[in-house]
This record gives sequence, structure tokens and C-alpha cells, in this order.
Amino acid sequence: MLRLELLSLGLGIAGVTAAPAASAATALKVISYAQTPNGFKSSARGWNSFALQANPSAAPGFTFDQAHVLTQCSVLASAPFNGQYDTCSLDSGWSVGDHGDDFGRLIYDDSVFDIPSLASSLHSQGLKMGVYVVPGAFINDANKTIFGTNTTIGEVCTGNEGLARCVFDYTRAETQAWHNSVVNLFASWGVDFVKLDFVTPGSPDNGQSLPTDQSGTVIAWHNAIKNNGSQIRLDISWKLDRTQKYFDIWNSNADSMRTDQDLNNSGSSTLVSWGTVQRAIENYRQWIIAGLQFFDELNVYPDLDNLFSGNPENISGLSNGQRTTVFTHWLGAGANLILGNDMTTLDDFGKSLLTNTQALQVADFTAQFPMQPRNPGSGGQNAAQLQAWIAGPSPSGEAVVVLTNLGPDNGQGGFNTQTSGVQTVTATWSDLGISGSFNVQDIWNNKSLGTVSDQVSAQLDEGASVLLHLTSA
Ligand SMILES: *[C@@H]1O[C@H](CO)[C@@H](O)[C@H](O)[C@H]1NC(C)=O
Ligand SMILES: *[C@@H]1O[C@H](CO)[C@@H](O)[C@H](O)[C@H]1NC(C)=O
Ligand SMILES: *[C@@H]1O[C@H](CO)[C@@H](O)[C@H](O)[C@H]1NC(C)=O
Ligand SMILES: *[C@@H]1O[C@H](CO)[C@@H](O)[C@H](O)[C@H]1NC(C)=O
Ligand SMILES: *[C@@H]1O[C@H](CO)[C@@H](O)[C@H](O)[C@H]1NC(C)=O
Ligand SMILES: *[C@@H]1O[C@H](CO)[C@@H](O)[C@H](O)[C@H]1NC(C)=O
Repeated sequence: MLRLELLSLGLGIAGVTAAPAASAATALKVISYAQTPNGFKSSARGWNSFALQANPSAAPGFTFDQAHVLTQCSVLASAPFNGQYDTCSLDSGWSVGDHGDDFGRLIYDDSVFDIPSLASSLHSQGLKMGVYVVPGAFINDANKTIFGTNTTIGEVCTGNEGLARCVFDYTRAETQAWHNSVVNLFASWGVDFVKLDFVTPGSPDNGQSLPTDQSGTVIAWHNAIKNNGSQIRLDISWKLDRTQKYFDIWNSNADSMRTDQDLNNSGSSTLVSWGTVQRAIENYRQWIIAGLQFFDELNVYPDLDNLFSGNPENISGLSNGQRTTVFTHWLGAGANLILGNDMTTLDDFGKSLLTNTQALQVADFTAQFPMQPRNPGSGGQNAAQLQAWIAGPSPSGEAVVVLTNLGPDNGQGGFNTQTSGVQTVTATWSDLGISGSFNVQDIWNNKSLGTVSDQVSAQLDEGASVLLHLTSA
């Protein structure tokens, strides 16, 4: 019960009610997720090291090495998580940065990691291991022969992409052979998840001179995983291009794709700022709008970057209401649920939030039906401070509705309103594009709203949300 009191306080909810109203809105196009290119039927859950690397003063006890990563990820294996978030994902820095082995394949930096032993330790705890890569082979390895061929890397790879790598000619069979050799090596180490960063078009240059189109790398990594046959997820990064030509490529080859830039708090003493969260939510809105335009079913899950709901405000940078809103939106999107938290300084609120059984059941539903925006009062799909979202309804009449007050726009939310304080957020069935009667469960308040047939409404403080699970009445 302590948990519920904390949740209610964090949300700042004065009450959730049902009341009458009506207005016309456009028809709802229900969109769903289908199996991903590498055969997954749900998004990844786990932990990633990026935020602790980018903001060391938020996690002074953390060093990016094997012992500290094992300490972080062992928390995933134990109560109350018990492996529900299973992927322990290393960000940049685990591998040698300027050359590979005799065949130009990546090697781990053995001063900090022994990857096969890390994988074996994680696997023995029921967890999975993720590694980080960028496109291309090392320029320094140009004279090395690609495994299983008589061709050198330099013969199929030219130029400088700005990350100590050359740019492959993706039309060459030997380029695929190099990717196959790396994936086979990764599979022998026990790698289960690959984050492929700096993919263009989309990725910001970040001071590098990236080639304008490296979509070939995504196809080559996908084919290499398929050729090997191991269960490896391919997560591509960052802020990938959302035009139809490229969205099709990501959708056909990657299991998840980053929708936004990094959630990087630039060395701050907290992991994220609220304005950045507003930006991440806005980028998801743009992504699902593009998805609705091009697809009836999506085969790629969104990756909104790491979520920071586990630590208290002095570490996460988010109030309890904002932490709930972050989890609610990541979950509603069916996005990867990869924690960026310091797992050694979680509080009880964070643990309860992230392991809430009903919420994780909702996440299983939204991993099949992603939420899309429906503006309160109009059913439009614009960015809005006071927003409503709906996932589904499924053919059996199950749906998820999120109501939120994102607070005044910090400059990146796309809604440009500055309404302070507690607000009433109301979505009619017409706004949401649904009709009929639903049993409505308020997940965070663990409370049934009974049978509702017209609208849902909530009093929401800045940064607060409600997560409603609807089942056909
Ligand atoms: C985070 O962003 C800052 C710039 O704001 C940059 O200097 C730093 O390298 C970034 N950190 C990582 C890990 O990318
Ligand atoms: C590759 O070999 C050529 C010829 O021996 C040499 O000039 C070049 O520096 C070598 N390149 C690298 C990256 O080792
Ligand atoms: C590489 O060259 C050797 C010697 O010419 C030849 O025996 C071998 O079949 C070639 N391997 C491939 C993969 O082409
Ligand atoms: C996949 O990789 C593993 C580990 O290297 C290897 O044993 C296996 O033969 C590979 N599978 C295929 C089909 O190449
Ligand atoms: C952060 O706040 C918690 C209480 O929520 C407190 O126990 C902890 O010591 C604080 N940590 C830091 C680093 O200030
Ligand atoms: C929700 O409330 C029910 C009683 O209505 C209780 O049995 C259950 O433990 C509560 N769930 C949580 C997560 O607190």
C-alpha cells in the first residue's frame, strides 16, 4: 500500500472521472506490430550503460568495466526484477577503437572486458548480452584479408567515414562476408543484441563526417544475423530518417530503431532533463505518424533511447510524476524498455513502477498495438501539452489510453504552450476514435473506473499521466 500512496503523490492526481461530451473527429486507423525481421514478437527490455558513461557525476560509483557492468546487470536478475528486463547492453567503449583481429573483426578491450566470460556470467543469470558497433571496418585493417575470402578489406572499403572506419561498398559479396565473420564471432562469444550506431540517413554527424547514406550497413548486419541463424536483435541508431524509402529499409531489416537523438545530459549530475523527455515524446509522435502513413503493420519497434524511471529525482532528474510519465510513454509506444538508470541506487518507487504487473501486461499489449496521439477536443494528431493517446483497439476490443499533461514546453516539445499547474485532460470516445462500452482500469492508481461509454478525464499536474487499460464491456 505504501507503493500506491507514493504513486498517487507522484502523479499529483486529484481524480479520474467519467462524464458526458461529444465532437466529431477523423476515423481511427489501428496500427499493429508484427514479427520483426530477426523474428522477435516483442520489444527488448534491459539496461544500457550509455547514460552512466555520459553523466558520470550522476553515478559516481560506476566505471565502465566488467565488474561494474555485472553489478548493474545482476540487479536485473534479482528481485523484484527477476529477469523481466533481461538484456545487459554495453554502449561504446567495450571494443578496441582503431583496429581489429587478423581478419579485421572487432576485438574487445581486454583491459576492461572479457566478453565471452561476461556473456557466460550473464547467461548463467538468465540474462542476455548486448554490444555496440558502428558501420564499417577499420582503416588500419585495410590490408587484412576478409575471413573466408582472398579479398582484403581495402579492396571493398574506401575512404574515411570519420570513426576510424572506411566506407564499405555494399554491393560486394566480400562486404557481406566481413559482416558474416563478425556476427559469427559475436555469436561464438554469446552476443544477443547489437546496437548499430551512426546509421545514416538520420544520425547527426556529432562532429564526424558521416557518409550521407549508410543504409547498406543495416541490410548487411541483418543478412549476417540471418545467415548465422542465432537469435540476435539488431537495434539501429540514432534519429533515423523517416521518409518512406528509408523507413522501409529499417522496417525490413532492424528489430528496433532509434526515433530521437541521444538522451544525453552532457555530464550533468542527473541522468536526463524534462525538456529532453518532451523532445523524445515528440519524436515518437512524429515516428508513429509516419508509420501510420506508410504501414498497416510495423515490423520494427521504436527505441526512444534509455528510460530513466528507476532512480529518485536527485539522480534521474525527474519528479515521481515525470518518472511515471516516461515509463507510461515508453511502454505505450511498445518501445524498447532499456533502463539507463544506476541500478545500484534505485528507490522503492522506481522498483515498484518498473515491475508493476498490470503495467507490464499493458506493455505486452502495446508490443502488439502501439499508441498514437488523438488530441483532446478534436481527435487530431498534433503535438500537444495536454495529450491523449490510444493503442488498439484489438479485434477483441482491448485498448490502452494515456492521458498526459506534459507541462510547459521547454523548447523541444513541439507544442509551444506554457500552461502551468494542474490541468483537466479529457478525451471523448469521439476524440479517441472509438465507440461502445469499455471496462476501464486505471493502472497507476490500481483502481477500476467501471464501465465507461463516453469519455475519460483526469486532473493532471505538470508532467503527470494516467495509463488506462480498456477491455470490451
Ligand atoms: C554527450 O553530449 C556531450 C555534448 O553535449 C558530448 O560532449 C559527449 O561526448 C556526449 N556523450 C556521449 C557519451 O556521447
Ligand atoms: C597496406 O599495404 C600497403 C603496401 O604495402 C602500404 O603502403 C599501406 O600503408 C598499408 N596500409 C595499411 C593501413 O596498413
Ligand atoms: C583463395 O586463394 C587460394 C589460392 O589461390 C585458393 O586455393 C582458394 O580457393 C581461394 N579461396 C577463395 C575463398 O576464393
Ligand atoms: C553461427 O555462429 C556460431 C558461432 O560462431 C557458429 O558456430 C555457427 O556455425 C554459425 N552458424 C552459421 C550457420 O554459420
Ligand atoms: C537522493 O535522494 C534520496 C532520497 O530520495 C537519498 O536517500 C539519497 O541519499 C540522495 N542521493 C544523493 C546522491 O543525493
Ligand atoms: C491492486 O489492488 C488490488 C485490490 O483491489 C490488490 O489485490 C493488488 O495487490 C493491488 N496491486 C498493486 C500492484 O498494488
